[in-house]
Amino acid sequence: MHQSITIEPFRIKVVEPIHLSSREEREDYLKNAHYNPFLLHSREVIIDLLTDSGTSAMSSAQWGGIMQGDESYAGASSWLRMEAAIKDLTGCPYILPVHQGRAAEHLLYSRIGGKGKVFFSNTHFDTTRANIEYSGATAIDLPLADHQDLDDLYPFKGNLDVAKLDQEIRKHGPDKVAAVILTVTNNSGGGQPVSMQNAKSVAEVCKRYGILFILDACRIAENAWFVKHREDAYAEYTYREIAQEMFGMADGCIMSAKKDAIVNMGGFLALKDLDLALRCRTVLIITEGYATYGGLSGRDMEAIAQGLDEVFKPAYLNYRIKSTSYLGESLHRIGIPVIRPIGGHAVYVDAKSFYPQIPPEEFPGQALACQLYLKGGIRSCEIGSVMFGKYDDHGKLIPASKELVRLAIPRRVYTQSHIDYVIATFKALMVTRDMVKGFRITYEPPFLRHFTARFEPVE
Ligand code: F0G
Repeated sequence: MHQSITIEPFRIKVVEPIHLSSREEREDYLKNAHYNPFLLHSREVIIDLLTDSGTSAMSSAQWGGIMQGDESYAGASSWLRMEAAIKDLTGCPYILPVHQGRAAEHLLYSRIGGKGKVFFSNTHFDTTRANIEYSGATAIDLPLADHQDLDDLYPFKGNLDVAKLDQEIRKHGPDKVAAVILTVTNNSGGGQPVSMQNAKSVAEVCKRYGILFILDACRIAENAWFVKHREDAYAEYTYREIAQEMFGMADGCIMSAKKDAIVNMGGFLALKDLDLALRCRTVLIITEGYATYGGLSGRDMEAIAQGLDEVFKPAYLNYRIKSTSYLGESLHRIGIPVIRPIGGHAVYVDAKSFYPQIPPEEFPGQALACQLYLKGGIRSCEIGSVMFGKYDDHGKLIPASKELVRLAIPRRVYTQSHIDYVIATFKALMVTRDMVKGFRITYEPPFLRHFTARFEPVE
């Protein structure tokens, strides 16, 4: 193969038609969705970059496995296959299957959390934070404060600030700390990788204080690519060996299989401590299902076992990381402000500097998400003051620290010409950027408002 060109390392066997809507149609669709892309129907979308979670394309080997799913209630062979694959990868002896990542979060954080407890993380993902806070505990983010600028090219911007972690543990007292969660890659922090050195340092601090160390491993294969190519000591390791070494440092992990196991539904909790595993298993059986299927069908477990193997293949990971970076670097070149270096699963656009005329109270990220949809039928996700803004006692918005729009790329779904279409759409948005206005909220629910809020354009 021509070494300098990365091509999609697969050919397409099954296709799903896309409805190529007109601008007029999209204006109606968006109005009916109250200017919230979450409320659009998927057939109204041309390129769906809302999330990379559960939206990936399975391989022929995964679909083949699906036909062989063993649907027995207890001890199904599909469970044994999935359990063996996860044990081998994570080194954890106790595996609890669940229907998706947040169910694993619920099992573990409801057991070890509770009032008075504190969790630390490089950045808690929103369902992680919600599960911790729902238990009555507190979630504190400790990202690297010095490397948050858009254009700071530090290679591991997803790292946890270890010096700060040490201080915070001493401030709260080690007994109060329920766990340290290292999220790889750091989704809420721009899809940025975490170095092996950082994982090692976190593990050391946790060991010193006797604190549980958990990996949120849903994008562990993508993270392994960055470790191999940016951390000299790991250049000769395979991606799988890198992942295994990182798992080896932790006391357990949570994984939403909807990401790096390349399936549409599934997840697991893996632990090294029997007592903790048994406590979590009790909740598993009450809320998810019997211990050998959790919330999953046998066929789902077959697909997960297969996906966990495919995701570490060099040709796949090269294509995956290079295609995300192709979108991000192309946008950067045409003058779109994006978080760099480009992360593993998504490109994050800074809507605040793209639309400086729109104040945070009028949601520049929402404006960009709507413009992308109107211009190109592209669905993206606001990660700014709609998602994270709060109100003060007088009802005034306390904006989020950033106004981002995430373009998350489903695995093996879109070809380069789809991505070129996204870049061309951004080019067109450059022309009209000064004229774009913001939005005001007309309805919002009390929790997680971004999913169902309604908006109207500011005139
Ligand atoms: N942890 C991280 C880092 C995640 O990104 C997600 C989901 C979860 C946990 C929860 O997993 O969805 O299977 O319950 N992230 C998706 C996203 C929803 O769009 O980034 P889940």
